[in-house]
Amino acid sequence: MIVFGIESSCDETAAAVVKDQKDVLSSVVSSQIDTHKQFGGVVPEVASRLHVENISTVIDQAITDSGLAWDDIDLISVTQGPGLIGCLHVGVQAAKTLSLLTGKPLVGVNHLAGHIYANKLDTDLKFPLLALLVSGGNSELIYMKDETSFEILGETQDDAIGEAYDKVARVLDLGYPGGPKIDRLAKQGQPIYKLPRPKAPGEYNFSFSGLKSGVLQFVKRMERENKEWKVEDLAASFQETALEEIFTKVRKAIENHPDLKQMIVGGGVSANSRLREKVAELAKRYPNMEFNVPPMSCCTDNAAMIAIAGEIAWSHGRRADQTLCADSSLDLDF
Ligand code: KG4
Repeated sequence: MIVFGIESSCDETAAAVVKDQKDVLSSVVSSQIDTHKQFGGVVPEVASRLHVENISTVIDQAITDSGLAWDDIDLISVTQGPGLIGCLHVGVQAAKTLSLLTGKPLVGVNHLAGHIYANKLDTDLKFPLLALLVSGGNSELIYMKDETSFEILGETQDDAIGEAYDKVARVLDLGYPGGPKIDRLAKQGQPIYKLPRPKAPGEYNFSFSGLKSGVLQFVKRMERENKEWKVEDLAASFQETALEEIFTKVRKAIENHPDLKQMIVGGGVSANSRLREKVAELAKRYPNMEFNVPPMSCCTDNAAMIAIAGEIAWSHGRRADQTLCADSSLDLDF
């Protein structure tokens, strides 16, 4: 099956053509980061307008790069949600128009399912599996007994981990997006500063807002007391505490679910080098399980993962028509 995917849930306008959930025939991502940088984060209204400006060009480029014609496409798949509502509307409207013009069937998919299925680009999924979703909008630990069942074991009670990276980067004047910058700085520092350990209710839930405030208070205290401190060490301390919040819960989930065959990671923060090291450490500790982090190009938002999600949804009977509507808080289920 050859699927044309469209993604516009946040600040990337993307389109891709994927064959049989594996072969990426084309993948075009137009990032708005340079525009949002000047505001220190994504401005939803600006993001929607940029999607409107870019989406036709991105779609055109994706079909040209694939070397195929519209006649060769079997299905059009689009991110229905969750995400920024104005942004989602642009992708959904474009997909509906394409479907109308080409006569090709349409399916709307969940953005988070896309991040999970992105792992199919370099591995086969083995169930039951544990999925860790870590992005700018989500932090979730999900148990999947099969391809279409998503049992949320835990989730963030406040900020998403990527949001915490971005907010801490703002406090440290590092610019947007903060994740890659903190990642780089942390490599040159040591986690020597004591920051508040997050406390979230429940066995597998996360919390990051106390840690984020802890970084701000640390900086203020150092300034007030006129003490020297190193931004590299603070970046390393924040990163280590934030990732330990995640990995403590991951280890608990693995211990409590001995049937797990695999753990996969998805979302923008899965590009983080220390997170990748920690996944490699888990792989050594649990040799009976497989561990996978998607290729760097598929960690952040892209449309190849939406095309894959579309084929899976389609094969399980999901259908959409011209009444398809964007849903900013779409649930992760089938
Ligand atoms: O999945 P994504 O592209 O967008 C959504 O949130 O859906 O994720 C973007 C997030 C941003 O918060 C960014 O700071 C974070 O991913 N990020 C990272 C790294 N690269 C991107 N966080 C930590 N380390 C990184 N290397």
